[in-house]
Amino acid sequence: MANILCIGAGYVGGPTMAVIAQKCPEHRVVVVDINEARIAAWQTDNLPIYEPGLLEVVRRVRGKNLIFSTDVDGAIREADIIFVSVNTPTKMFGQGAGRAADLQYWEKTARQILRNSTTSKIVVEKSTLPVRTAEAMENILNSNRGLHFDVLSNPEFLAEGSAIRDMQNPDRVLVGARETPSGQKALQTLVDIFAHWVPRERIITTNLWSSELSKLVANAFLAQRISSINAISALCEKTEADVKEVAHAIGLDSRIGPKFLNASVGFGGSCFKKDILNLVYLCDYYSVPEVGAYWEQVVRMNEYQEHRFVANMLTAMFNTVAGKRIALFGAAFKAHTSDTRESPALAVCRGLLEERADVVLTDSHALDNARADLGKDAQRVTFELDPYKAAAGAYAIAVLTEWPYFAELDYEAIHNSMVKPAFIFDGRNILNHRRLFEIGFNVYAIGKPPLVHFA
Ligand code: NAD
Ligand code: UGA
Repeated sequence: MANILCIGAGYVGGPTMAVIAQKCPEHRVVVVDINEARIAAWQTDNLPIYEPGLLEVVRRVRGKNLIFSTDVDGAIREADIIFVSVNTPTKMFGQGAGRAADLQYWEKTARQILRNSTTSKIVVEKSTLPVRTAEAMENILNSNRGLHFDVLSNPEFLAEGSAIRDMQNPDRVLVGARETPSGQKALQTLVDIFAHWVPRERIITTNLWSSELSKLVANAFLAQRISSINAISALCEKTEADVKEVAHAIGLDSRIGPKFLNASVGFGGSCFKKDILNLVYLCDYYSVPEVGAYWEQVVRMNEYQEHRFVANMLTAMFNTVAGKRIALFGAAFKAHTSDTRESPALAVCRGLLEERADVVLTDSHALDNARADLGKDAQRVTFELDPYKAAAGAYAIAVLTEWPYFAELDYEAIHNSMVKPAFIFDGRNILNHRRLFEIGFNVYAIGKPPLVHFA
């Protein structure tokens, strides 16, 4: 039996530890956080994050071998293996501001582990970190007191909305370690945990630096596909090509593959932008600025796509939206999550507020987070759970999150309740555009010729 601890009970710490507890009933798993409200919520059925299937897993193991606590110091003392899953946002001050990772939470955790440890431990980097962070971690942890800490890298690849499925059936698990006898022993301990349910050939082991860098590179490649297809969507709109048809045609080439080619209003989420900017910063730091400039363009293309969406709305709606009610369908950065961090929906919302539109935001799970993330702009937004009420009296609808229920609404009834001419902007290409046009909407979709009733 091992005492496993995870520091940080967020989108990663909560789901990953719940699955480890479920798959390894002989181990005791404790998840701690300094955020008392978050820990309190993990102890109820009203979990702090919405994630399909998560509550079922938590209910099975909570109070048995999964414990949520705010006693960080006490939990460190008892732990054999410590996963660190604290947030590593973009640094907003000083050197590297706007690009480098802000490692203050990370370093505080390292010092806290050292302060409270009376036995040697394995410390696992679960957070996404700049390459070579493990070296700093080792230097802090092994600085005194005669204890020995092995630092491993085990980046997390789960996506929100499918976190439980991704954890239970991962494409791969990656573990990086020092090539010393002690590092390799620690690595084997971690591999044995995942081997409870992950086929051994899908557990990849590398050196520490490859593991750390692979996480940033994986996110950069995923985001790059979206920016690539979004770049093509702008060209499609000028040429009457259809981006869905282009994506299908290129995706059938097995060397390209069909996934992550959905053109959209832009990618959001807490990680793509921050991790690519971190990669760009590292490229400058290690004096390969051309490589940094190459990757930075992925983020710039995403910003262009968000701006372009608002600009297209404005142009279509006779160059003014001031005082017009506009219903935004979706606030979450993707479907099946309540997370609104870096959501393109909020970028579009802010763009429309600048144009003095009267914005109504509707989403089944993300309105509370949207309200908090919008800060003082929230005062100028109406939050409405019911999409029919949101659309009533509106001049336009913009679909910004690919929630399946948006495709299943009664658009005939919605059209009847709107100001004419009624516009619909599909930022996710999930609606039946031909049908909407027949109902009477003027339809604008990403990367497709518009379907409009006037010349
Ligand atoms: P999060 O903000 O949801 O959770 C981090 C938690 O750590 C917070 O609850 C915070 O209170 C806690 N924390 C911070 N400092 C602490 C301390 N000293 N002691 C105890 N708790 C502390 O973040 P997240 O989305 O779970 O991401 C965590 C890391 O995982 C990041 O590095 C992120 O890049 C990476 N990651 C995230 C995802 C994702 O889908 N969200 C996926 C893969 C990797
Ligand atoms: C992403 C990665 O997919 C995970 O592997 C990674 O672990 C995680 O980031 C992380 O490091 O945080 P996540 O951001 O949760 O996961 O969600 P994705 O499914 O990757 O979607 C990201 C954004 O891209 C969403 O806004 C989504 O709507 C958008 N997207 C995705 C598109 O616009 N088009 C696509 O084809 C796919």
